[in-house]
Amino acid sequence: MSCSILILNGPNLNLLGTRQPEVYGPTTLADIEAMCNAKAQALGIDVVFAQSNHEGALVDMLHAARGVHAGIVLNAGAYTHTSVALMDAISSITVPVIELHLSNIHAREAFRQTSYIAPVAVGQICGFGAAGYPLAMDAILSYIGEAQ
Ligand code: DQA
Repeated sequence: MSCSILILNGPNLNLLGTRQPEVYGPTTLADIEAMCNAKAQALGIDVVFAQSNHEGALVDMLHAARGVHAGIVLNAGAYTHTSVALMDAISSITVPVIELHLSNIHAREAFRQTSYIAPVAVGQICGFGAAGYPLAMDAILSYIGEAQ
């Protein structure tokens, strides 16, 4: 079976490209998806790219990753800073999760410096803009021993 990873995006990330480009950059989520697909093809792995603005839908997608994906890259958006439900969902599955943010959340408002994802994630990548997505793919593949 070929290795599959899930790249999951939370609220408001569907508006990337037009949403506060001075913070999040000019790249759209479709551009990022294309970048991730190209990298996955080059690596010979499968990638599923998804986005939802709804906390429960993100919980459902984390649960559904069991037995399907070898690892998950999660940009939980603002739910990073609020969601015990997402933290519990990650704790409830054995699929490893890398936490990802386009912006450096540690250099922003104080409320963004708390992450409910960080304590249950393998690690965190933030501050590299859209380039963080392929970096996070490398990180999860390295963690699960699929690095090429
Ligand atoms: C974000 C950072 C979050 O604080 C914010 O709420 C987002 C995007 C990022 O990718 O930088 O929606 O996750």
